[in-house]
Amino acid sequence: MRQAGKVAVITGAARGIGRACAERLLAEGAIVVLGDINAAELKKCAAEIGSTDSVLAVVTDVSKKDQVDALVAAAVARFGRIDIMVNNAGIAPVQDFLDISEADYDRVLAVNLKGAFMGTQAAARQMIAQGRGGVIINMSSINSGLANPRVATYAISKGGMNQVTSTAAVAFAPHGIRVVGVGPGTIATDMVMDGTFIDSEEMRRAVLSRTPLGRLGTAAEIASVVAFLASEDASYITGETIYPDGGRRV
Ligand code: NAI
Repeated sequence: MRQAGKVAVITGAARGIGRACAERLLAEGAIVVLGDINAAELKKCAAEIGSTDSVLAVVTDVSKKDQVDALVAAAVARFGRIDIMVNNAGIAPVQDFLDISEADYDRVLAVNLKGAFMGTQAAARQMIAQGRGGVIINMSSINSGLANPRVATYAISKGGMNQVTSTAAVAFAPHGIRVVGVGPGTIATDMVMDGTFIDSEEMRRAVLSRTPLGRLGTAAEIASVVAFLASEDASYITGETIYPDGGRRV
């Protein structure tokens, strides 16, 4: 119960890695506040993972500053504070580089990068006001450091996100706030299994051949890293992005 009494806000929490993080933090004793743009899936998730004593769902589009601020405000209004912020919401369209329109570029950067930036700001403002530290976790990707033109906008956004993590870590360290990133390899969620990211048997084999452990990761395996980083077990880690990627380097 290493998160006992803590309040955690998680974006993109209706399914996949975000939901797994919510379930893991709940299991370790936290109260969780779930934000997601998908209202129906969010409602279903909140009802399935816990009771209203420990789970609050707030429909949120992280690309909108007022909605990110409202998510944090709702957590504080209901539970009095926040201790953990997980900026997890993300989108990963597969597109040829020259097919990316201005609107495509703006949307991916607004959700993945601006969303994490504004989530970091909103959480840090609240944590500084509380005066008892906190942890902000940004869900990056192995693609933040690879050159993968199939997902160029995604890779660009996640590379920027690593800078949100490292710069915010230095900015907020004097307040006892740690800011860390998690950069998963290929994880078996809807994002990669819906037929766009892994679009053929050949692609599946290529992904596995680049993954020394020889399999895709699970959302629960990413949630366990998030839970560690959120805990006092990681009290001397800040500014880093940690890569649970099955050993992948290319
Ligand atoms: P997913 O597609 O299964 O879940 C993403 C969730 O984010 C969905 O519930 C969706 O409704 C929500 N979302 C999308 N746009 C949003 C917005 N504007 N505001 C609020 N919520 C929004 O994806 P998955 O795999 O669970 O990914 C979660 C995070 O992990 C993403 O940031 C992704 O980039 C990252 N990641 C995933 C990897 C994978 O292999 N699945 C690998 C590396 C990173």
